Amino acid sequence: MAEVREQIALAKDDARLRGVTNPTVALVPTMGALHDGHLALVTRAREVGDIVVVSIFVNPLQFGEGEDLETYPRTLDADLAALDRTGPTIVFAPTAAEMYPEGRTQTKISAGHVGTLLEGRSRAGHFDGVLIVVNKLLNIVQPTSVLFGQKDGQQVFVVSRMVRDLNIPVTVEVVDTVRETDGLALSSRNTYLDERERVAARVLSAVLEAAESAAVSGIDSLIAAAQAASMGQPLVTLEYLSVVNPATFLPVDDNFHGRAQVLVAARVGTTRLIDNEFVYLGG
Ligand code: PAF
Repeated sequence: MAEVREQIALAKDDARLRGVTNPTVALVPTMGALHDGHLALVTRAREVGDIVVVSIFVNPLQFGEGEDLETYPRTLDADLAALDRTGPTIVFAPTAAEMYPEGRTQTKISAGHVGTLLEGRSRAGHFDGVLIVVNKLLNIVQPTSVLFGQKDGQQVFVVSRMVRDLNIPVTVEVVDTVRETDGLALSSRNTYLDERERVAARVLSAVLEAAESAAVSGIDSLIAAAQAASMGQPLVTLEYLSVVNPATFLPVDDNFHGRAQVLVAARVGTTRLIDNEFVYLGG
């Protein structure tokens, strides 16, 4: 902790010497296994911050029983090389013992009701674990901005809400999802997919595309089109398909019109993937 603070202080001194009067710090929190989606966050971080800090930490608190904490891809050398190619970056890659010297924190942060829906329903306690680590990272790094990818839409919502609820002095920047040419959202977990599963995983973005096209005709058309797009893929089990009001993250009712967010989670083989898209709901 002291070391990363020292690195940031030195980088700020350096920036001041170059004439930057009030150097800003942009933090990109990651769990490593960096892909182009993460690198898009780093690119944006360079636009909003004079100093870029990337944290790499597979946070045990956000993994439930039987989830992939042990097998989650850890590729630190490749991550450092990839970051090196993007420009000067302060990398903060603490161990679990450094982050949680007394084991699980006694202090808890609850993501509230929204934290129990969708991802939170399948992954009990997941968002509480995310909020604890994000809070700790914000306190350690004290950035001006913190960047998240839109792919983790519910994470973006609960983190933004925590920042507002707790008056944390940071700006949350959200960066668009980066996709493969066939539409699959980039995710570190895509590396779990075998060849057939990789082809089948295209269903998630196909569901969102179908939802987007049908949204203008209303919620029933949207759901019917999205469900139809999810059919006929034996390797894919749809876990949820939900349409929420982006302001509350609660499911929209039949009378809702305007900007809505469609979220999908599916198991492709044994891999659980998520995706989401904003649509205009008419009807
Ligand atoms: O999105 C992630 O990779 C993680 O949830 C985060 C924000 C780095 C917290 O561990």
